[in-house]
Amino acid sequence: MIKINENYLKLQASYLFSDIAKRVAAFQKANPGKDVIKLGIGDVTRPLPAACIKAFHKAVDEMAETATFRGYGPEQGYDFLREKIARHDFQERGADIAADEIFVSDGAKCDNGNIQEVFATDITVAIPDPVYPVYLDTNVMAGRTGSFADGRYAGVVYMDCTRETGFIPSLPGQHVDLIYLCFPNNPTGGTITKLQLKQWVDYARENKAIILFDAAYEVFIRDASLPHSIFEIEGAREVAIEFRSFSKMAGFTGTRCAYTVVPKSCRAYTTAGEPRPVHALWHRRHATKFNGVSYPVQRAAEAVYSTEGLAQCRELSDYYLRNAALIRAELSALGYECIGGENSPYVWVNGRMDSWKFFDRLLEKANVVCTPGEGFGRCGAGYIRISAFNHYEKVQAAMARIRKTLKG
Ligand code: MLT
Repeated sequence: MIKINENYLKLQASYLFSDIAKRVAAFQKANPGKDVIKLGIGDVTRPLPAACIKAFHKAVDEMAETATFRGYGPEQGYDFLREKIARHDFQERGADIAADEIFVSDGAKCDNGNIQEVFATDITVAIPDPVYPVYLDTNVMAGRTGSFADGRYAGVVYMDCTRETGFIPSLPGQHVDLIYLCFPNNPTGGTITKLQLKQWVDYARENKAIILFDAAYEVFIRDASLPHSIFEIEGAREVAIEFRSFSKMAGFTGTRCAYTVVPKSCRAYTTAGEPRPVHALWHRRHATKFNGVSYPVQRAAEAVYSTEGLAQCRELSDYYLRNAALIRAELSALGYECIGGENSPYVWVNGRMDSWKFFDRLLEKANVVCTPGEGFGRCGAGYIRISAFNHYEKVQAAMARIRKTLKG
């Protein structure tokens, strides 16, 4: 008899964004004349930067000629891309990261979800609440949790990120082995200072733990004092892995390109306590289960680092930040407390009511889609997340409708 992985039965219904998409589709079916504005999932709306498109086309043409055609590429990614990432995203910021510590992939979601495979199943995992659901769900699938009750899985150390904690997790009061951090944060839009991040690095070093640092929204940082990478923090090379993405940075959500940084000095331990480099494990996993990102996509990603590409990406992130500023200003003017939206494309709004009810009210009355905070965890109850990823005119229209609905 073939048996299933019963850990999957512990998972809650469907994935949050699939659940929302289903509700929105049902609403649209029942109300075909309504123009729904989507500020839910963080999916970009503006086209790829011109520099990326040019490089993409050129690389596609190369694939059409025998002399320049390429088959399988290196699993870790082409050197032309990894070298630019290492120099621009890390070395120029004083972070000691080499090109061969970078693994190019088809998405930060996949990497965030897959990385836990290289760690034992009986480790203790610390996860913020609210949280990007992928961190939690993939650990449930792997069997690192007990069952779900009262909004939480048994066996997980939840780190509350609330108004009281400044939307930053506090150091756990117990030993943990694997720590998920995401800054600028999804969903709250909160940020972390270098000093606060240093405390986490010190904790991880003292506890022989590893921090999985998701920096997918790094491009939105405007406050010059904030760290762009955990590797700007002394000692992080031994205890951290970082995830980055071209999705929000350069509009690659439909094109797919991201990367993960695993320093060669980052160590995890055997049961007998012997240190082993995580880089070798992840390299082995990558080589076994992944055949690389397509050559044209990597050329398009490389173009992000050209002078024109950098300027065009900056213009893109400025555009979404302008949307975020508008959302934050409008909701604040309506008397709602807002977090994020300043170094982040997400505005976390204290709705002061059940977050699914707030979601339904905005969908039904304003025809605007947001994300209910509760979908990100128990501490998200009462909040909604509004995404700045849409056209400015659509965001303006959405805000006018929300104003009318919430004032009415
Ligand atoms: C989000 O809306 O949280 C993100 O778009 C989801 C993702 O990047 O996978």
